[in-house]
Amino acid sequence: MATTFDQIKGFVFDLDGVITDTSLYHTKAWRQLAEKLGVTWTKTLEDGLKGISRMDSLEMILKAGNIQDKYTQDEKVALATEKNTNYVNEIKKMTPANILPGIKAFLDDLRANGYLIALASASKNGPTVLTQLKLTDYFPKVVDPASLSKGKPDPEIYIRGAELLGLAPEACVGVEDAAAGIEAINAANEVSVGVGDATTLADADVRFDDTAQMTLANIKAAMG
Ligand code: BG6
Ligand code: MG
Repeated sequence: MATTFDQIKGFVFDLDGVITDTSLYHTKAWRQLAEKLGVTWTKTLEDGLKGISRMDSLEMILKAGNIQDKYTQDEKVALATEKNTNYVNEIKKMTPANILPGIKAFLDDLRANGYLIALASASKNGPTVLTQLKLTDYFPKVVDPASLSKGKPDPEIYIRGAELLGLAPEACVGVEDAAAGIEAINAANEVSVGVGDATTLADADVRFDDTAQMTLANIKAAMG
């Protein structure tokens, strides 16, 4: 981490599992589909799916069950759509109460201190989730995942996030809960902040056990 805290001008956020608890709903919907297809659900598969795009997630599940050649492309699209329908049913019930602890205060603090903020979520449902949480105004810049040629762990989404803010990647902090996301941030040359498990997020520059601990003061202290 060559960057110092004073060089930071912007924050690029993952959504699912960082801003809100939607990773639970993604997991529930994927697990339902996997079990229907006869694929054994494991913690390794569950963690590996985090941060990964919809179609890449489906491929990962099929591969885990050694049935990657069983379905046509049209059938795969139908399976991914089925998962998404179940997921969307869950997020439609969400309210601002689903914002993870400390996140609203953290966003307010960033805004009050003049930091620029962008969203770098792999989810095509990101804008809907922000609307449900009433956080749309905090994210004037949102990377459109449909415009990307590669998903996380490729750095493209985080590089695009910095571009949308008009900043060099080195002037940005990226915030993630998934290993694939931390890999993407590091490869983009941004400072990686991980929220969650120490083993999963071993490559993060700075890590917190939970969102409540993720404050500007704690990030500054950790970056030195
Ligand atoms: C990521 C989630 O943010 O978005 C993944 O961590 C999810 O679990 C991915 O698969 C794609 O989301 P969506 O809503 O476009 O299917
Ligand atoms: Mg995430």
